[in-house]
Amino acid sequence: MAEQLSTNHLLGIKDLTPQDIQLIFETADTFKEVINRPIKKVPSLRDITIANIFFENSTRTRISFELAEKRLSADVLNFSASSSSVNKGETLLDTVNNILAMKVDMVVMRHPAPGAPHYLSKRIKANVVNAGDGTHEHPTQALLDAFSMREQLGDLGGKKIAIFGDILHSRVALSNIFCLQKLGAEVTVCGPPTLIPKFIHKLGVKVSHNVRETLQWCDVANILRIQLERQDIKFFPSLREYSQHFGINKGLLDSLKKEIVIMHPGPINRGVEITSDVADSDHSIILQQVENGVAVRMAVLFLLAAKRG
Ligand code: NCD
Repeated sequence: MAEQLSTNHLLGIKDLTPQDIQLIFETADTFKEVINRPIKKVPSLRDITIANIFFENSTRTRISFELAEKRLSADVLNFSASSSSVNKGETLLDTVNNILAMKVDMVVMRHPAPGAPHYLSKRIKANVVNAGDGTHEHPTQALLDAFSMREQLGDLGGKKIAIFGDILHSRVALSNIFCLQKLGAEVTVCGPPTLIPKFIHKLGVKVSHNVRETLQWCDVANILRIQLERQDIKFFPSLREYSQHFGINKGLLDSLKKEIVIMHPGPINRGVEITSDVADSDHSIILQQVENGVAVRMAVLFLLAAKRG
């Protein structure tokens, strides 16, 4: 097994090798054990300061990074664009350079513009972790999703994973596709034609518009939210119609008579892409995903810090 990551930043899954992903998983296994101990903290990042800078809304991801940092004993500072000088016209680079002047070692960033963390990583000394850049990538979500699937199914080689919903606007979809393929899984994306990018088959995924058939095929259903905040035109007639044709409900799952792992990165739109009786069922590992998120983010931060030398 590799002992170091091949990269100094986590910008996207696209840049990781399969060995990087395995190293992150094996490190996360150890941290998962740590966070289940009575004393959930280790001193690994005691001399590291991390800034979480969020230019877009977030609940889970921001809290998960902050907890991961605190469990590793890093010093943490939180910045959110809605209450900052960004509203006074400051550029991204100026904002971040001001934060770095206060001796910050790592930056965890969420931004609505695809490529924003890549741009920063080329201009600043700190390690950059992408916590979601627009509709592009969300690498730690894909890592925690794959880590959670591996807990259920073991090695993901040859496993069948389906991603349902708003593939067009979802950074989780793209990062999941890259991650699962690097681990040898087969991926199908399923949703209405208007919410599936035209050339997605070029990534080597299968495309389906039939929810029942795709559920019948897969071992895991990763169900994504309709990203209403990113839709400037109408991609489907109404939420009611979407849920009738593409929503996943208990009746449909029961009629398949098979074991299937249900996942969702959150936030859930209950009754739209997934009904409550599915989200809260025994098939669902949605809250395990959240728990694993902390361990996986601890692993990423720890391994990036180790590269600082
Ligand atoms: C995802 C995101 O922000 O991309 N959520 C998350 O990080 N848990 C998915 C979403 O917003 O639907």
